[in-house]
Amino acid sequence: MKGDSVLERAARRFGTPFYLYDFDVIEAHVHVLRAAVGPRFELAYAVKANPSLGILSFLRKFGLSSDVASRGELLAVRRAGCPPSKIFSTGPAKSDADLETLVRAGVSQIHVEGEWELERLEEIAKRARRAVRVGLRLNPPWGIAEKRTIIGGPGAKKFGFDIPSAREILRRKSSFPHLDVCGFQVFNASNVLDERLLVENTRRVLSLALSLSKKYDVSLRTVDFGGGFGVPYADGEKRLDLGILRRGLGDVAREARASGLPDSTRLVFEPGRFLVAEAGQYVVRVLGTKRSRGVDYVLVDGGVHHFLRPVLFQSPHRARLVPGKTGDRPRRSSHSQKSLVLAGPLCTSLDVLHPAARLPLPERGDLLAFENAGAYGYTESMPLFLSHEWPAEVGVRRGHLALLRRPPSVARLLAAQRQPF
Ligand SMILES: Cc1ncc(COP(=O)(O)O)c(C=O)c1O
Repeated sequence: MKGDSVLERAARRFGTPFYLYDFDVIEAHVHVLRAAVGPRFELAYAVKANPSLGILSFLRKFGLSSDVASRGELLAVRRAGCPPSKIFSTGPAKSDADLETLVRAGVSQIHVEGEWELERLEEIAKRARRAVRVGLRLNPPWGIAEKRTIIGGPGAKKFGFDIPSAREILRRKSSFPHLDVCGFQVFNASNVLDERLLVENTRRVLSLALSLSKKYDVSLRTVDFGGGFGVPYADGEKRLDLGILRRGLGDVAREARASGLPDSTRLVFEPGRFLVAEAGQYVVRVLGTKRSRGVDYVLVDGGVHHFLRPVLFQSPHRARLVPGKTGDRPRRSSHSQKSLVLAGPLCTSLDVLHPAARLPLPERGDLLAFENAGAYGYTESMPLFLSHEWPAEVGVRRGHLALLRRPPSVARLLAAQRQPF
């Protein structure tokens, strides 16, 4: 992470609160993940993790493919220059409009999650006179349990086909003449920090895909293992061991070849969090402090309307008091650490960015930075609640700051509304 002078500079230039994404960190994460998965596996960035256009076009420089979950995300990756041959689409409830846009764009493959969706897609493909490549998203009865529910782990859920339903579809795939069922996708768990579980899961998914493809005569174009590469949020959580991951996935790639899988079959991971989470910080300014019945509260100018993840997953992000000078006032250097409630301006006691941050008591004007805010941060939040200003999104690359997304003013948000009655 960049030195804190960058945060101070960004605060002066763009005002608080804001998100800052460090593009050098994103680049480093692309390289380490690429090295860890090895050349046999392709990376398709899961846009939902952070759909900032600046990030999408930066990732294009490294040739990453994309996984999109809506026509909005499709539009964004196309605008960032991603060719249709490198776009996959996955999502449990795609509308006709989503499917039509994906078909018209000619994306590489659409992952279908239910029989109803196959029927809609067949109809849409027929109308468009297109042959559409389809992967079945599977929900096998095994997988990786999640510490906090995000995707759901193994078990009944809204995602994908359970195996008996998938077999049934595969038996009668010829009843969808405009759909070429040529792949499988399994994504059961996000934020996994155990590299051995990730390797074992990859092996099992591949073996399932191979056995279904043999039994039902599917010529396998793609096997997609979803995302799931985790990052440590809490103190004491260990990082993924990328060396073990590399060796394990190297073994899986060799086993794939030994089992007769052609090199032309694309083996795909769809990482989101790992690439961007640690590159991001959400930065707020302290408005004031107070004590309530013996508890120290720090009131800041941002909150969970901008950064919902800490309450959504009951998972506080590490918070730092930005050292150095804020404004012209020298910081008091020797503060003892306290347990602080860091809370925002929303009129709900849910608006707590951290329930017990161990920090020196800050002063009005100080900056606080919440780490690991680059994935599922801004766009997983609810910025309309209470009509506060939205935060800017700012990028830093080799020390240079740039605005990525200008927040719409409250006046502009009001201008989009009508008063018809
Ligand atoms: C279909 C799909 N692929 C990939 C991802 C990215 O997962 P992660 O951020 O764990 O890498 C998600 C996240 O929800 C997803 O739904």
